[in-house]
Amino acid sequence: MLFPDDKCKYPPEQISYAKRVSDILMQTHKTRPKACVITFGCQQNVNDSERIKGMLYTCGYDMTDTPEIADFIIFNTCAVRGHAEDRVYGNVGATKKYKKENKDLIVAVCGCMAQQETVAEKFKNSYPYVNMVFGTQVLYRLPEFIYKVLTTKKRVYELSLDNKEIVEDIPTLRDGSIKGFVPIMYGCDNFCTYCIVPYVRGRERSRSSEEILKEIKQMVDAGYKEIMLLGQNVNSYGKGLKEDINFAKLLRKINAVEGDFLIRFMTSHPKDCTKELIDTIAECEKVERHLHLPFQSGSDRILKRMNRHYDSEKYLSLINLAKQKIPDVTFTSDIIVGFPGETYEDFVCTAELVKKVEFLSLFTFIYSPRTGTPAAVMEDNVSREEKGKWFTELLKVQEPIGIKKEKEFIGKTFRVLTEQKAKEEGMLEGKTSNGITVEFSGNEELIGTFQNVNIEKYENGLKGSLI
Ligand code: SAH
Ligand code: SF4
Ligand code: F3S
Repeated sequence: MLFPDDKCKYPPEQISYAKRVSDILMQTHKTRPKACVITFGCQQNVNDSERIKGMLYTCGYDMTDTPEIADFIIFNTCAVRGHAEDRVYGNVGATKKYKKENKDLIVAVCGCMAQQETVAEKFKNSYPYVNMVFGTQVLYRLPEFIYKVLTTKKRVYELSLDNKEIVEDIPTLRDGSIKGFVPIMYGCDNFCTYCIVPYVRGRERSRSSEEILKEIKQMVDAGYKEIMLLGQNVNSYGKGLKEDINFAKLLRKINAVEGDFLIRFMTSHPKDCTKELIDTIAECEKVERHLHLPFQSGSDRILKRMNRHYDSEKYLSLINLAKQKIPDVTFTSDIIVGFPGETYEDFVCTAELVKKVEFLSLFTFIYSPRTGTPAAVMEDNVSREEKGKWFTELLKVQEPIGIKKEKEFIGKTFRVLTEQKAKEEGMLEGKTSNGITVEFSGNEELIGTFQNVNIEKYENGLKGSLI
């Protein structure tokens, strides 16, 4: 737990609000009250929730996973697809009955969905039991918002998205002790025509390398073995900073931090993926030998309409360069099926690209219109049912490829980060630097350590044994 101290950059007024909230709660509760943080969406949101938990802890709350017994429930939401949003409305609606049992319960909605004005209005007008709605860039003011609700009983609405400087040193309560997230940049400037993220996360802002390195050193000292660097487009890291830096240079600096740990990162945008980056991955021993490089569509016509700024040829040349330079490299990707105007012929180009690259695994999505994005008003003549068929077809194309890729590693020895117990008794589960999961028999004490594992066979996944 990173706790605010005199030297930290977390605003002093927020520390003061947190102390006042804690005093009030101590008077009204016999024991520390409980807070339940419910998270939707990507790793960026999971990391934001770790900061929410940190702030709640400094305000005097302990955490619980059971909303029924909580005194504070917060939904950290995602707006990327319609399905994500529907789940939130259902979950928030369920808190109405908890409020009947506990009239002092505070309910909050924050994150990407709350950042959209129409959604915030909906919570304001149709969900009177929601006490606060706030957006992605004012997250650090949570202690202030709780103080306001406790002392004035008024509802809080705060959606400002002014893209000001990044607030550092927000108290953080991390979910795990082996793997941890470190955001290196916030927001996105790319405006892919289907995507809501730039509207709800604001403009791209990079953290200084000094702050990033400080956080990583603290984590490595605390025993973390895997650092996942986060950003919507990590490859454009450094834009707008005064220092002479880009993502490849940042990776080299992190690689030079003393200690035994693995560096992962996501997401890379193909338009900003450079030869320098591929060389850096090949040369830095702590950097994963894996690229999550979303290509979205294999059709150049559709890529143009998506505003992605690359074509399938450029994408394949990046993949081939990485295959050539980085031994045992693996790839994963995001794909959208059924973008407005996409024909079956376009879809076939996507399936062809999947075959050519041979991804380890894929994250595939059916296109979901997002109000306010350019694609939402593009003509879309293909039925949901038809798109569903293409989607299933794509999964069928990928399935044997994923297995074939995994089998390629049989007979090789890899350094594996032991992550957890496997389902089978006596077995452990770990991941290699290139992102393959392998099970092997071993003592639980090995969890959180690197081990050399010989990969021996494929039986519903890779199995190996300790060297
Ligand atoms: N910044 C990352 C992606 C973040 S969103 C990148 O550019 O790669 C994660 C994934 O959700 C995207 O890669 C895309 O495949 C998918 N996605 C985003 N908007 C979507 C939409 N409107 N409908 C369906 N899938 C979408
Ligand atoms: Fe969305 Fe494109 Fe930005 Fe990724 S790069 S967050 S897909 S706008
Ligand atoms: Fe969702 Fe926001 Fe992440 S829209 S995918 S939680 S950046």
